[in-house]
Amino acid sequence: MSGRRPLIAGNWKMHKTCDEAVKTAQTLARSIPPAGDTEVMIAPPFTALAQVFDVIKNSPIELGAQNLHWKNQGAYTGEISAAMLKSTGCGYAIIGHSERRQFFGETDATVNLRIKAAIAHSLNPVLCVGETEEERDAEATFKILDRQVNKGLEGLVADQLPDLVIAYEPVWAIGTGKTATIDQAQEAHWFIRSLVEKRFGNPLANCLRILYGGSVKPNNISDLMTMADVDGALVGGASLEAETFIQIVSY
Ligand code: 13P
Repeated sequence: MSGRRPLIAGNWKMHKTCDEAVKTAQTLARSIPPAGDTEVMIAPPFTALAQVFDVIKNSPIELGAQNLHWKNQGAYTGEISAAMLKSTGCGYAIIGHSERRQFFGETDATVNLRIKAAIAHSLNPVLCVGETEEERDAEATFKILDRQVNKGLEGLVADQLPDLVIAYEPVWAIGTGKTATIDQAQEAHWFIRSLVEKRFGNPLANCLRILYGGSVKPNNISDLMTMADVDGALVGGASLEAETFIQIVSY
């Protein structure tokens, strides 16, 4: 790995009431050492963000949101703006997760609007990309990644993206127990970095952190982290139990 600081992020998805979220966050805050080599972020559901922030604000753990709307405010029932997230203590926003794309009509164009809104409010975007099983079988993985990265970042310049994180999450590996092999992950990460280099230049590509997501567990994280272009992980199911997530963080 390069000089990039590893980032291990937990995406709690639609799990945990406020009480449950606070309890998990308390355990994490007690256990994650300050000034560790690895940066840690958790993304609880919107309803628990403010309470979780209260628990982790004096710990090294960062707070992330799972999505945001691109408008600052307005008549958009059920949506949450970047400014609202910022006011809860969020530093990161996960954008374009495949579950958003699959189940909630998210497109590359709306991903792009959300990325721009996050940047405008100093939220570090975690842009999620990844191919489905059919797309991989059809050998379209690189084509899909190219489209998702380039359309997702359309209209932006390198200076706006110093804190950009990209998560490579092959859809077929999410929640299935089918982790990508370390070579499959490395190949996709290398390709994503080369896309960013082509478009934004070498300095940004070099410091860009690319996370792997898809059935990351305590028993596969260390192998993944040996790969040159794997800079961390976006963990779903295995981030819900504090003890399991701590094992992953201390891979
Ligand atoms: P799992 O770790 O449950 O496969 O989920 C990965 C993911 O979607 C993280 O955003």
